Amino acid sequence: MRVIDNISGLKAIIRAQKAAGRTIGFVPTMGYLHEGHLSLARASVAENDFTVISIFVNPIQFGVNEDLDKYPRDFAGDTAKAESCGVDVIFMPSVQEMYPAGYSTYVELSGEITGKLCGKSRPGHFRGVVTVVTKLFNLVEPDKAYFGQKDAQQAVIITRMARELNMNPEVVTCPIIREPDGLAMSSRNVYLNTEERKAALVLSSSLFQAEAGIRAGERNAERILAGIVKNIKEESIAQLEYASLVNAETLEDVKLIKGKVLIALAVKFGRTRLIDNIAVEV
Ligand code: PAF
Repeated sequence: MRVIDNISGLKAIIRAQKAAGRTIGFVPTMGYLHEGHLSLARASVAENDFTVISIFVNPIQFGVNEDLDKYPRDFAGDTAKAESCGVDVIFMPSVQEMYPAGYSTYVELSGEITGKLCGKSRPGHFRGVVTVVTKLFNLVEPDKAYFGQKDAQQAVIITRMARELNMNPEVVTCPIIREPDGLAMSSRNVYLNTEERKAALVLSSSLFQAEAGIRAGERNAERILAGIVKNIKEESIAQLEYASLVNAETLEDVKLIKGKVLIALAVKFGRTRLIDNIAVEV
């Protein structure tokens, strides 16, 4: 496995792989790798001849009061984990390499798809994500690119961007990986103290309960959401940001549950904001 920190080095490797007719899988990450990321890396290694993982804490997707400065990093751990999955290259550019002084080009999706759910409380977040993913797709030229369902809105947005901009990679969305007690894996879980970690189980337990309700025949989205809000309110240190029930592809609000829907939550525990979701098809 090679670790590359510059664009010209990466491009030379990609050129050689393409010339040899090998397929390229790509896993974009911000590092501090956990089993969720590794499941994407393993899928890529299984389905492609050559796998690139990027580790880049992308400053332009963080708001001014967010956790850019304290975002967790673990270069040695990430390298060992990526290597154990059979990754071929880690691309780890500096901010200067990705956004040299005077950088000015941004990619943006318009409309509700980026303005609601996480986009509402994190204005500019998806513009930052879409811009960096566009740049990374141009550099890595993957055949397939892997994203986690944990960031469901991101996965929908990237899928749409790739389609609408006629980009080459097939965007693959992989299932959420959970801790044994249900908490969705996230690099940000490391911020939680013991009390917050325990309280954070309300995310997955509310979602599982909502799913069971739908499976038992409930079709009224308002009632499903009311159950979730009640659970979260009962957890004294949980502050609900949103609980939404939307169409899994368009992210439009749903009143009557039909087809594939997504129940998505964002909740703060102390200063840590966590998201989780579940997709249900009826
Ligand atoms: O999901 C993430 O970690 C990031 O948003 C991504 C896709 C790597 C872009 O910075």
